[in-house]
Amino acid sequence: MSIFVLSLFVFATSFYASCTNLTAYDVVQKYKLPRGILPEGVIDYKLNNKTGFFKVYFNNTCRFPIEEYKVKFQPIVSGFIKNGRISRLMGVSVKVLYFWLSIGEVTSDGQELELSVGAASEEFSLHRFATSPQCGCGFYCRELTFSS
Ligand SMILES: *[C@@H]1O[C@H](CO)[C@@H](O)[C@H](O)[C@H]1NC(C)=O
Ligand SMILES: *[C@@H]1O[C@H](CO)[C@@H](O)[C@H](O)[C@H]1NC(C)=O
Ligand SMILES: *[C@@H]1O[C@H](CO)[C@@H](O)[C@H](O)[C@H]1NC(C)=O
Repeated sequence: MSIFVLSLFVFATSFYASCTNLTAYDVVQKYKLPRGILPEGVIDYKLNNKTGFFKVYFNNTCRFPIEEYKVKFQPIVSGFIKNGRISRLMGVSVKVLYFWLSIGEVTSDGQELELSVGAASEEFSLHRFATSPQCGCGFYCRELTFSS
């Protein structure tokens, strides 16, 4: 029974695979989220626009800082997207002390972006995410280039 349901689900998600030429960055903005929640370097994505289930693909693991935090994107990131919210996110984690903890949910209220790790969450200004970070230097690349 569960295998049957699972295979139906896999069929349904692949059926609605990305068949427009919107980029993954366009898609997150269509869902009222800032493009900067995705780092540069997306090579492909899939979206089931009925359920909101998505997968985003990168060539490599991508790490970069967000303010005092270190964030890591696995080469495949998945979750469910709807307006202003990503839930059941998989493949994105944040380093807290010595541990990498999974970011499960991202929500935007139009002013702030909230990243949730279990019961804890942290809010950032939406402006912070207006442009996509680059793997490595993140949002601070221009500042680094400037000073060198
Ligand atoms: C998709 O690409 C085709 C060919 O490059 C172009 O004609 C069409 O306008 C594009 N569609 C969108 C929604 O950008
Ligand atoms: C991903 O890897 C392919 C094959 O090595 C390469 O052609 C492409 O430029 C890479 N894309 C990015 C965004 O790094
Ligand atoms: C979902 O995608 C299909 C195929 O690209 C498209 O025809 C349909 O209009 C889309 N639905 C929504 C709600 O965006």
